[in-house]
Amino acid sequence: MVHVLVFFLLVSALASPLKKRKSLKEIKEINCEGPYIGLVTVFPPEETAFLATGAFKPHKTHPFVDLSGRRFRVGKIVDKKVIYVRCGDGMVNAAAATQQMLDLFDIKGIVHFGIAGNVNDSLSIGDVTIPKQFAHTGIWSWLNPSAPSIPDAVAHLDVARYNVPKGEGANLLGSFAYHSEQFFSELGKPNTARPLVWAQTSQQWLDLAANLEGMELQQCVNSSLCLPKKPKLVVGLRGSSANIFVDNAAYRDFLIRNFGVSSVDMESAAVVMTSLSNGFPVVVIRGLSDMAGGQSGENAIQIFGSLAAQNAVKVVVQFIKTLP
Ligand SMILES: *[C@@H]1O[C@H](CO)[C@@H](O)[C@H](O)[C@H]1NC(C)=O
Ligand SMILES: *[C@@H]1O[C@H](CO)[C@@H](O)[C@H](O)[C@H]1NC(C)=O
Repeated sequence: MVHVLVFFLLVSALASPLKKRKSLKEIKEINCEGPYIGLVTVFPPEETAFLATGAFKPHKTHPFVDLSGRRFRVGKIVDKKVIYVRCGDGMVNAAAATQQMLDLFDIKGIVHFGIAGNVNDSLSIGDVTIPKQFAHTGIWSWLNPSAPSIPDAVAHLDVARYNVPKGEGANLLGSFAYHSEQFFSELGKPNTARPLVWAQTSQQWLDLAANLEGMELQQCVNSSLCLPKKPKLVVGLRGSSANIFVDNAAYRDFLIRNFGVSSVDMESAAVVMTSLSNGFPVVVIRGLSDMAGGQSGENAIQIFGSLAAQNAVKVVVQFIKTLP
C-alpha cells in the first residue's frame, strides 16, 4: 500500500516536468522556423475577436504548445509568422506570459492588444489607442459608489463614511504615495534596478502604427446598436495599468490630472516593461470599451467590450501586415 502511494506520488511529481520537456522539444522544432512576432491578449472576448477574423492560420504540425497552463498558438497572419498567447487578467499574468514567450520562443518583438477603459474626454468608446508610454499605477480597487459591491471581495473599506476623528479635518485614511517601478534591463548594469515611471513602447513601431491612423473601424455592435461617431485610431498618447478595474469618476479624474493618461487597463505596463527588460520591441493596441467611471449609469464594457476588441484586432492585423 505504501509502495503504491509512493508510486503515485512519484508519478504526479514527475508529470509536469515530463510535460514541460515534451513542450520544450516541440518549441525547438518551432523555433527552427522562426523568428516570430509574439502576440499577447488578456481574456476570452479578445481571443474570440482575434480568432473570429480568420486572419490567424494555425501551423499544420505544431498548432500550439501548452506551457504553465497557457496555450501558445503557432501560426501565420498573411506572410508573417506569429505566436499568440492569452495571458489572463492582471500584471502578474501579463509579465509571466511575456517573459515565457521571450525566453522560450524565437521572437522578434511583442504586439500586445485588447480593450481598455477610456479616461480622455476627447476620445470615445470604440476608438483604438496605441500609446507611446505606460505607467504602472498601483494595486487598489476603487469602487463606483452607485454600483453594487463586488460579491467575492475579501474586505470592504467604506471611505465615504469614514471620518475619524468625527467632523473636523482630514480623516485618518490620509493619502497614497505612488512609486516608480524598479526596472532591470539587459542593457543596464547587471543586478541593478533603476527607477522607471514611464515605460516607452518602441518608436519604430509607433511610427509604423501612425501610418494606420484614419483606417476604417467598426461603428456598430449589431443592426440596432451603433456608436454615435465613427471610431478612430489614435497613436502616441499615454496609458496606465494596475491591478484595478477602474469604474470610478473621482479616481479617473485623479489619473488624468496626475498622470495625463488617456486609457486604463490591467496589463499593458507589465507587458511593456518585461519586453524592455529583455531588450525587445513592443507595441500596445487597445480598443476603448467603456468610460472607466466617467459615464452616468452602468459601465458600458458589457455592451461595447466586443466591439472594442474587434476594433483593436482590426488594427493588430493591419499593423502586422505592414511590418517589414
Ligand atoms: C486626449 O486625446 C486627444 C485626442 O487624441 C489628444 O489630443 C489629447 O492630447 C489627449 N489628452 C491627453 C491628456 O493626452
Ligand atoms: C444588439 O446588441 C445589444 C447589446 O448587446 C442587444 O441588447 C440587442 O438586443 C442587440 N440587437 C440585435 C438586433 O441583435
